[in-house]
Formats: sequence, C-alpha cells, structure tokens
Amino acid sequence: MSTFLWGALPYITLVSLAGGLWWRYRYDKFGWTTRSSELHESRLLRIASPMFHYGILFVFVGHIMGLFIPEAWTDAVGVKEHQYHLLSLFGGTAAGVLTILGILMLIYRRRTRDAVLRATTSNDKLMYVVLLAAIFMGLYAKLGHSTISSGYNYRTTIAPWARGIFYLNPRPELMESVPLTFQIHAVIGMLLIAMVPFTRLVHMFSAPVGYLFRPYIVYRSRSPQQLGERTPRRGWEPVDLER
Ligand code: HEM
Repeated sequence: MSTFLWGALPYITLVSLAGGLWWRYRYDKFGWTTRSSELHESRLLRIASPMFHYGILFVFVGHIMGLFIPEAWTDAVGVKEHQYHLLSLFGGTAAGVLTILGILMLIYRRRTRDAVLRATTSNDKLMYVVLLAAIFMGLYAKLGHSTISSGYNYRTTIAPWARGIFYLNPRPELMESVPLTFQIHAVIGMLLIAMVPFTRLVHMFSAPVGYLFRPYIVYRSRSPQQLGERTPRRGWEPVDLER
C-alpha cells in the first residue's frame, strides 16, 4: 500500500496532469474555459472570487517554498526552524483561511443563486468536493499539529519525499511516519492535481496575460459617405457626424 500511495500514485498524478492537458488541448480546445458565471451573478462573485484566488495563490507559493526549498538552504541563510515555523503558521494559516472563506462563499453563491446553480454540472460538483476537502484537510492537518512554540516538521519527511518524486528517486518510506491527517491531505491533493485537466480548473493554465498588453479597443464613427444611402435603423442613427 505504501509503495502504491507514495511511490506510484505521484507518477499516476503527473501522467494524468500532463497527458490530460495534452488531450484536452488537442480534442477540446474550445471547451478550455473557466465557464464563468459572472453574467448570472456578479455581486458576490466580485468579493468571493478574489478572496479565493489570492488565497490559493499564496497557498501555492507556500507549498513551493515548504516542499521544494530544502531545510539546509534556509539553515544556511540563518533562518531558524522556529522562525520558519512562525512564518508558516501565521502566513500559511492566513492564506488557508482566506482560501476557505472564499471557496465557502463561492459554493454558497452556487447553491443559492438559481441561474448559477443551473449552470453547475456534476463535474463541477465533484471538483468542488475534492477542492474543499484538499483545502480543509491541509488546514486541519497543519493546525492539529501546531502550537506557537512548535509544529510538525514536514521538511524532514514530506518535503524530501516530494522532491524525490522529481529526482525519479521515490522514497515511500519517508511518508510512513507522517501523521495520518497529512497523509490524507497529500492523497486528496494528488487526486485534485490529477483531475485538473478534466475540470474547469484547467483555466489555471491559461491566465489571460495578453489582456495586459493588448491594444485599446478603438471606436470610430464612420463618415456619411461610408454609411451610403441606407436609412439607419431606429436607435442606430449616427451621433455627431461633424467630428
Ligand atoms: C501532493 C500534494 C500536496 C502535498 C504534499 C501537500 C502538503 C502540505 C503540507 C506539508 C502542508 C502543511 C504546511 C505547513 O504546515 O506550513 C499543507 C498545508 C495546506 N495545503 Fe497542501 N499539499 C498538497 C496539495 C494541496 C492542494 C492541491 C491544495 C489545495 C487545493 C492544498 C491546500 C493546503 C492548505 C489550504 C494548507 C493549509 C494552509 C497552508 O499551510 O498553506 N494542498 N499541505
């Protein structure tokens, strides 16, 4: 079981992520979308969406730092384990709480706004369950093993295990002594990552960066010559033709 969960599942996850993205791009390029529901409701979305997205972005940065920066490196620049623990406790918890409040508000909006509910598929519902479970379990595992003075030092177990996956040197034994709540969190996390290409979460790989650099939309009035002889339809009469 240990070999499957911590030696094989991570690779199944990566294959599902990379293969799924390739498949979706090839066969469902035009379905690659957030399926935004902003047209149905925007008042709650305007608050909940940035809360969730900023929260999850900080959680993501925290995971990269915690799992992929070896403890020896932070030691080398003089960051003590206790200082690191406080950063992770306050910074990570703040990010996790922001994320969970955002996602709860998004789910509340989906359940209570009829048009949004009708635009919600079974695929979305399953994705929300796994997403919520991953976030909840992350916070639960972390807070369940933390006090101000100390916390579970995952940088000696989970972090080297995670790096081993990418060095193609999986070490399942590192995960065996890890508290169960963290193990459950990691399994749900892998499940979520594997699901990304097959859900709306795929939009995380197509941030509309081009919006920042695209030219302005230019509106021009046309000259009477260009308009020709046709009488404009009601409501479409040209405005201020002198300019
Ligand atoms: C295999 C994948 C994952 C592993 C190995 C992992 C590992 C961890 C670890 C070790 C912590 C504790 C951090 C600390 O105490 O400072 C944590 C916390 C957390 N994780 Fe994950 N995680 C994974 C995937 C995910 C995913 C996919 C999500 C969300 C979508 C997520 C959300 C959270 C949250 C909200 C917390 C608590 C707040 C925080 O410390 O940032 N994790 N995770």
